Amino acid sequence: MPSPLAELHLHLEGTLEPELIFELARRNGVTLPYRDLDDLRARYRFRDLQSFLDLYYANMATLRTAADFERLTWAYAERAHAGGVRHAEVFVDPQAHTARGVPTETVLRGVAAGLGRAESELGLTSGIIVCVLRDRPVAEARRMLEESLAAGVPLLGIGLDSAEVGYPPSLFADVFTAAAEAGLRRVAHAGEEGPPEYLWQALDVLGVERVDHGVRCLEDDVLVRRLAAEQVPLTVCPLSNVRLRVVDDLAAHPLRRMLDRGLLVTLNSDDPAYFGGYVDDNLRQCRDTLGLTGAELATLAANSVRASFAGAGRKAELL
Ligand code: HPA
Ligand code: ZN
Repeated sequence: MPSPLAELHLHLEGTLEPELIFELARRNGVTLPYRDLDDLRARYRFRDLQSFLDLYYANMATLRTAADFERLTWAYAERAHAGGVRHAEVFVDPQAHTARGVPTETVLRGVAAGLGRAESELGLTSGIIVCVLRDRPVAEARRMLEESLAAGVPLLGIGLDSAEVGYPPSLFADVFTAAAEAGLRRVAHAGEEGPPEYLWQALDVLGVERVDHGVRCLEDDVLVRRLAAEQVPLTVCPLSNVRLRVVDDLAAHPLRRMLDRGLLVTLNSDDPAYFGGYVDDNLRQCRDTLGLTGAELATLAANSVRASFAGAGRKAELL
């Protein structure tokens, strides 16, 4: 099986495994509302995106120090590397931490330390994409961007995540313009639960270079033709789509259809601690359930490198 090579849709806070939640809670004196690991694990059955986000944000209460973020990041890097990942562009949600008193600088310094260790010990190259929580005020997003740029940590890009329906990309046009002026690459979640219109806005109002998820593009034929013609990458997360009921089951996932329409699709894990697998698990289960051929798996791997923001030299090494 070819390596997934580059992972482009991965929320670091979504790699917080149940065991680490309990360990950090003990160390930081955080009281968890769960009796034990089994009680926590029993809650990993989601109805939709919001029911997942409620647990995702609650569990972040255990992350308090830069060392906690470094630990989280290193654990992800080790696991992803073992699954074949050689380059990772990782999402972080600073507003989810400032809202509970952990400064953006603490978060980003910890993450950067973990990624630095991953590069020196594993040869895993990476970048940080700070995400706007779209269901929070625009002024807060602006502050998040300013604090992130001032944190003294190299940033790769800006993204847009959290509850999608009712929060169109256009709300954040000014924030994304400011991010682009500061030299950040732009991506956004669109078309996971939200309509195709949100992909149009992400492209034409925010100026994104990649769309995260984007599976609902298939409902708009003109949009599909544009995405294919411009080879806009879509970072698809099949196991996430199953767990959040975006699709009925893996057999019904449109990954194959997306490839057949000529879309530049990449395969990713989204929040692997919550959705039942890392990127290699996604690849394996899609191969077994959707019958992906060796050529299709190789295409997905090559797409991930082409769609990444790695420099030309690094891309050539990985392809
Ligand atoms: N969608 C939107 N926001 C998120 C997700 C997701 O899949 N994971 C973490 N934040
Ligand atoms: Zn996501």
